[in-house]
Amino acid sequence: TQINIITPDGQQTSIDASANESVMQAASRQGIEGIVAECGGNAMCATCHIYVAEDWLDRLPAMSDDEDALLDGAAAERRANSRLSCQIPVTDEIDGLTIRVPDRQV
Ligand code: FES
Repeated sequence: TQINIITPDGQQTSIDASANESVMQAASRQGIEGIVAECGGNAMCATCHIYVAEDWLDRLPAMSDDEDALLDGAAAERRANSRLSCQIPVTDEIDGLTIRVPDRQV
């Protein structure tokens, strides 16, 4: 599954993600900077905040109440397309997903 990631410096990188990981884990594993993920993927920190490309928003699993509450406390501005990358499982359905990393996580 391919995921396109735009880092704060404007550079776009494509990574390969596996079905047994989250978008956060795939990005961290491949050294993408700017996804801090302090809590290790447990929906407790909001330092894995990302912006999802608009045309992908409806195609991702709905966010939980926990994710919704955490996003309110994210370091970078919360937008309509904000999500926590640790709460997006990698599946065939998200092949080609494009996300943007905010300029800060803490
Ligand atoms: Fe902590 Fe996603 S890694 S909320």
